[in-house]
Amino acid sequence: MRYFILGFALLFSSGAYSQAGNQPTDFIVKPYLQIGKTPSPQSLQLLWHAAVSNDVWLAEYKNSVANEWIKSENQTSSKIAVSGIEPFTVYSAAFSGLIPGSTFMYRVSKNGNVVFNAEAKALKSKEQSYRVAISGDMGAGTNMSKKIAFEIYKAKPDMVAIAGDIVYSRGLASEYKTRFWPVYNNDEADTSGAPLIRSIPFVASVGNHDALIRDLDRFPDALAYYHFWDQPLNGPVGKEGGAYVPVLTGADANKKAFYDGAGEKYPRMSNFSFDHGNAHWTILDSNPYVDWNDSTLRDWLTKDLAAAANATWRLVIYHHPCFNSSRAHYEQQQMRLIAPILEQGKVDIVFAGHVHNYQRTYPLTFKPDNLGIQLVAGPNNIKTGKTVNGRWTLDKNFDGKRNTKPNGVIYITTGAGGQGLYNPEQQKDTDSWQRFTTKFISTVHSYTIMDVNGTVLTLSQVDINGKEVDRIKITK
Ligand SMILES: [Fe+2]
Repeated sequence: MRYFILGFALLFSSGAYSQAGNQPTDFIVKPYLQIGKTPSPQSLQLLWHAAVSNDVWLAEYKNSVANEWIKSENQTSSKIAVSGIEPFTVYSAAFSGLIPGSTFMYRVSKNGNVVFNAEAKALKSKEQSYRVAISGDMGAGTNMSKKIAFEIYKAKPDMVAIAGDIVYSRGLASEYKTRFWPVYNNDEADTSGAPLIRSIPFVASVGNHDALIRDLDRFPDALAYYHFWDQPLNGPVGKEGGAYVPVLTGADANKKAFYDGAGEKYPRMSNFSFDHGNAHWTILDSNPYVDWNDSTLRDWLTKDLAAAANATWRLVIYHHPCFNSSRAHYEQQQMRLIAPILEQGKVDIVFAGHVHNYQRTYPLTFKPDNLGIQLVAGPNNIKTGKTVNGRWTLDKNFDGKRNTKPNGVIYITTGAGGQGLYNPEQQKDTDSWQRFTTKFISTVHSYTIMDVNGTVLTLSQVDINGKEVDRIKITK
């Protein structure tokens, strides 16, 4: 069932590429792409994992076959030596001379021998059109996850954005090994996964399954997000025990091993922003340990969106959907607290996961009653989320077809990327939907495709069989 058609092979052929000298022992995780700390259409970050050794590694790239190979820049290595798993090294190197939106080739050498070849695509510039695939709750390692990965691959996006719950069930490095890398960095493109993350960068927000485990004695390889992802560090500087970073527990040796591996990424990579194409993306930690009444967080978010006033589109990703009609997780509405900031900052769309189905709201504005009220702590001092009452205003004139200019923020729940579906009985039971919900698809796995062409943005929800199940157009 290997997927292969002419033309498509050029961009996404890394699985079929010969990987001269590539031995099973060369990599613990084969090379994968990240947007890095300072994303641009000319740059991408390449990471790979290998055994701790004195091997000499080199990553190179070129923008066309005729060109000479260009050495990557600022190669770093970070040893991950948390207990319970064999120590390994995360290598990271920058490609900074890419042509925006263009296919490029890269290769990785070990001790002078090429052990990996691939083709990939640079991020788009402001003037170019682009496609992003978006889903939460993907990294379950299920057959549905694998099929969704294959569908995303066939859709040829420029980037994949994960709305949290990157890896089940505890965000462990050992779980990435079985549930993430084999699916999204598969050598072949078929119903077992696809060579996606070696061809285009992934970005992600943390979900509860990625970030709630903080007991490093029980799970020393927890919080692997901070070891494996490389994303901007331009968010607020939190400290453990503060308003948005819970305390890590465990023996000093386990904590030191975690800190040494994560470096400056922990905890700062929890909230950040970047530009891609003509859009500004703000990525937030919606976990219930975060107090979104905190003035530091609110000020940062307000300023971040204000600074992005010139972007054509402003998009937000976090994990817990706050305008959710599912019976599952209905009470976890803590992110409603920032709705007024998003409205003031002229955010167009919020993408969330957590609830394993697809939902779309009317464009809406919301005035929360609970601003300034401390949410109640749950077991183990990790808050479980709480209802936030208030008053919403819905734009029912927007239909995404004839009327394409929304008055308010559109909230998308796209958590049907691989885990068991929630509340299939509600799809036809429209009386069970909250008044802000206008589309609810919970009987089939699906993911979101966002196509942007200047001032026209199209959202399509595509099911696991490749069938479009929802579509709206938004224009400026
Ligand atoms: Fe979740």
